[in-house]
Amino acid sequence: MMESDRHRLQPAARTPLARPCHKREGRARLVLNRKLDDAARDVGRAKWGIMEMRHGESDGSEKLENRENHHHSVPAGLRPPGHLLEPHAPRTSISAPWSGRFAAPLLVEATTADSGLSFRGAVVDVAQRKGSEHWSIRLNRQLDQQVRQRTEELESSNRALLAACRELESFSYTVAHDLRTPLRSMCGFSSVLLEDYPDRLDADGKEMLHRIGAAAERMGRLVDGILELSVATRSKLRRENVNLSLLAHDVVKVFNELDAGRQVETVIAEGVYAHGDPLLLRQVLENLLGNAWKYTGNAPSPRVEFGAGSQDGEVIYFVRDNGIGFDMRHAAKLFTPFARVHGVGDFKGIGIGLATVQRIITRHEGRIWTEGAPGEGATFYFCLTPAPEGIKR
Ligand SMILES: Nc1ncnc2c1ncn2[C@@H]1O[C@H](COP(=O)(O)OP(=O)(O)OP(=O)(O)O)[C@@H](O)[C@H]1O
Ligand SMILES: [Mg+2]
Repeated sequence: MMESDRHRLQPAARTPLARPCHKREGRARLVLNRKLDDAARDVGRAKWGIMEMRHGESDGSEKLENRENHHHSVPAGLRPPGHLLEPHAPRTSISAPWSGRFAAPLLVEATTADSGLSFRGAVVDVAQRKGSEHWSIRLNRQLDQQVRQRTEELESSNRALLAACRELESFSYTVAHDLRTPLRSMCGFSSVLLEDYPDRLDADGKEMLHRIGAAAERMGRLVDGILELSVATRSKLRRENVNLSLLAHDVVKVFNELDAGRQVETVIAEGVYAHGDPLLLRQVLENLLGNAWKYTGNAPSPRVEFGAGSQDGEVIYFVRDNGIGFDMRHAAKLFTPFARVHGVGDFKGIGIGLATVQRIITRHEGRIWTEGAPGEGATFYFCLTPAPEGIKR
């Protein structure tokens, strides 16, 4: 033992020898270093035993009775004054809390055979803290159990909800599918009546048949919309690298062919790729570019643009137009099935396109959002990655 280490031990040596921390039970437990080797500052392992001390024998002169009933290893070496070594909790500590008096020495007296070094220290009553620790452990366990239970409940109701959704989806698909045939009959027979029996019907009769036919046709489109939505939700998703620029060119080419009378300036960024389902992504572009095409119908110099940019490391695709635009108050509503902001009289449609697009994007774990202003066009943004925590668009 070097002189400097002796010096360092002095403050501990001056502290009173272990005081009893028990008041009622007559016994306190102490932890003593059984074998402080004389080179105690060399860090190694030393055994510490839990000793029992009888009440009233703590004035510093009495021998501590070492029962050595518990041992545990702690790093050896000089412990700085104030270092708290706690006795092991009894095995049953959780069910039998630290209700008694327990002690832990800061430094307690121990004499090594070889060096004759002796240490002195004070005993601290840790019963209260142990009690709180015990309760906090218990509460933590309870909380853990509750969280696990709630998670299981949530997972199970999630599964039930998913199953119900799938059932509902398959029901609406079947209904929509089966409605097509009678609708086709209504359309077909009303036009047959008009063509084959024109002289037996007066003007009112003909008008009514026209209306029946038109209504059946509209209903047919709605039914097709439900089917489209259903297919976008149910079809198997296969992901691959898709050249969206090529897809956009292809889609716009079809629009140009179908609507040859219109002059629409189209700007398509080249080399834009996405990782997703090619058929579903085509449907996304058909709907978004289709809307841009349609809602620029009254614009003096219609312009439709497709491109992509990057923000915070993620690719954000967009379809922009300089058409009729919309009031941002309706922005969320646009994605609701059959919700339309503009009247059927102005622009044809049933309001299913954006709902379908949103489902496809969601299936890719992505997001879609929009910006627009009345008379100033609209931009639809989407990305195919989940929203970072706390960000909603
Ligand atoms: N580019 C756009 N500019 C302005 N309004 C738009 C645009 N795209 C969509 N909207 C508004 O959002 C509504 C919903 O769009 P959505 O594509 O779902 O339906 P739709 O175009 O009316 O019919 P369809 O089912 O044939 O697509 C539209 O009715 C329109 O009011
Ligand atoms: Mg549309």
